Amino acid sequence: MPNDRKVLVTSALPYANGPIHIGHMVEYIQTDVFVRYQRLRGRVCYYLCADDTHGTPIMLKAQAEGISPEQLITRVAAEHLRDFTDFGISFDRFGSTHSDENRILSEHFYTRLAAAGHIATRTIEQAFDPVKQMFLPDRFIRGECPRCHAADQYGDSCESCGATYTPAELINPVSALSGAAPVTRSSEHYFFKLGDFSDDLKAFTASDALPKEAGHKLAEWLTEGLSDWDISRDAPYFGFEIPHAKDKYFYVWLDAPVGYIATFWQLRSRLEGRSLDIDAVRSQWAQYAVHHFIGKDILNFHGLFWPAMLKAASFAQPTAIHVHGFLTINGKKMSKSRGTFITARRYLDCLPAEYLRYYFAAKLNGAIEDIDLNLDDFRARINADLVGKLVNIASRSAQLLARHLDNTLADVLPDAPLYAEFLKASESIEDCYEACEYSRAVKIVMDLADRANRYVDETRPWEIARTPQRRAELQGVCTQALNLFRVLIAYLKPILPETAAKVEALLGGPELNFESVKTPRLACAIQPYTHLMRRIEAADLAPLIDEAGGEGVPRKAAPERPAPAKAEPAKTEPKEATASDTIAAEDFARIDLRVARVVAADYVEGADKLLRLSLDLNEGRTRTVFAGIRHAYAPADLVGRLVVCVANLKPRKMRFGVSEGMVLAASDAQGLVVLEPGEGARPGMTIR
Ligand code: 2FM
Ligand code: ZN
Repeated sequence: MPNDRKVLVTSALPYANGPIHIGHMVEYIQTDVFVRYQRLRGRVCYYLCADDTHGTPIMLKAQAEGISPEQLITRVAAEHLRDFTDFGISFDRFGSTHSDENRILSEHFYTRLAAAGHIATRTIEQAFDPVKQMFLPDRFIRGECPRCHAADQYGDSCESCGATYTPAELINPVSALSGAAPVTRSSEHYFFKLGDFSDDLKAFTASDALPKEAGHKLAEWLTEGLSDWDISRDAPYFGFEIPHAKDKYFYVWLDAPVGYIATFWQLRSRLEGRSLDIDAVRSQWAQYAVHHFIGKDILNFHGLFWPAMLKAASFAQPTAIHVHGFLTINGKKMSKSRGTFITARRYLDCLPAEYLRYYFAAKLNGAIEDIDLNLDDFRARINADLVGKLVNIASRSAQLLARHLDNTLADVLPDAPLYAEFLKASESIEDCYEACEYSRAVKIVMDLADRANRYVDETRPWEIARTPQRRAELQGVCTQALNLFRVLIAYLKPILPETAAKVEALLGGPELNFESVKTPRLACAIQPYTHLMRRIEAADLAPLIDEAGGEGVPRKAAPERPAPAKAEPAKTEPKEATASDTIAAEDFARIDLRVARVVAADYVEGADKLLRLSLDLNEGRTRTVFAGIRHAYAPADLVGRLVVCVANLKPRKMRFGVSEGMVLAASDAQGLVVLEPGEGARPGMTIR
């Protein structure tokens, strides 16, 4: 990339209805490393992001919490920003799609499209929930798969056999919101005639703005012909109203990418200390090389819809769209029932952010491949690479320097050619960062770390230290090792910014970058060595996995296509009973089992496998318990029944409220049955 081009970088805007999880972090870490590298090279580089705040799920979540959508998105934005900051993600501006700038720009884009004849209106038929009085996005309709007859499938696809279909084909459809059978209603919708931009899009998808693989995929879609894109939604909806259209809102995906420019607008206004108009924003936007980082699931939006919108509104096209795959954990899709939906916060409560930054970087090769977080491999890799190899170079030599040489570096490097060898690697490493092939950069650095450790092993400073007459020699070896370490830290600075800051403080001198390390640190005192990194112990990883499973967060709570994660029966391997598997009678006695009556039962909006039960345990109040039994029971089947409740279970805070117990059920591969006390049992009775 030419050094004088100003760079604008974005990550996909996260939905404002759920926490950030480590699946998200693949993208933010990938982007942040790119941004930090650009800045390290001395380029003007701004990193923009915002919360994606509109759509049906956000509206429903706010309703479920009894707050306004505005209150919800304000709270979530603060949580998101805190998670990002603690992961070292260096946004220049984190905005919101629910902003004045975004409303003005979205209306502007739409008006330009309409004025040029690219908008059509048509009446379409859609499923309508007669209880909630709203149109239902496909993903809010559940029913039996028309192909394999699996129960409780989404309105647009079957998770069991993979079939895709329309909600009208679903057998016995019900609204996931109310449980009512949807009715068909018609409504006028607004469409963006994407086909008008076929030629532009053919040129764009064939350009080097997209990875080849992604360009080919999009070209296939283009050859199949582009359908008009439905950009309107009916009230009730949380979003921006379409100008001159009553009770019609922009579909969230219309205003979401516009949020990139709105956030840029906010940043520019802040930097310039004045308010800009759209024309000024348009011409400023054109001055930057715009890089979008996205996941493979939103390629069509960024590779087709967005370039067409930009073209229609005379905004410059993106320079590059970087596409990554998904995160798997221990080789499997992140799963609520396996407890592997690890939120950013849960990770941060257990381990330093930089360990994950390093691990992801070590796996990211710029290709559209899924990457796996294998927890054993993660632990082994961090302990071996960062602690065992990298930090080891510094800790050994800095401690000897402190003990015997008053923390003072020698005047010359005893092995200048070795130092030059380390500097020579910078070119290849720069290429790797530029191409987002961080795994190759990490490999080069780790090979050099091996080389530095070999230098220390061969020169044996701990032996030299035993002879007071060899102090100068000792000082030279330690100085050499610390300078080699310094170069490696400069190379890893985009990935490990916090460690780099600690090393800057330790060694003093100018800020670390690819240029400054060309001059070694010599003939000066350094700070006393303090611990840089610690090993990961097995105990650190245990809390990452939620052994209790439970409702985590979906990978993406996507409007119109809320996240998958269908209820999976808990998978426990049948085990032989061994001495350690038995429990003492006192252990069992600690469990307070009570008879309870189900006084109310409801679906939980946004939770695929839960029912909310109100239980009477004869305590003068009812308790709320969230039970993962939705695939086996309709709420009405349970009301009035007696059940067995674990009454002294620690209350558990879930996304939907606090669960104050557990309902016992028997299950096997065929199904699940809630246990029912026999005749004569009354609420509150103790079970022994
Ligand atoms: O898929 C998602 O998570 C969307 N919220 C991404 C939006 S990116 C951009 F277009 F706004
Ligand atoms: Zn099916």
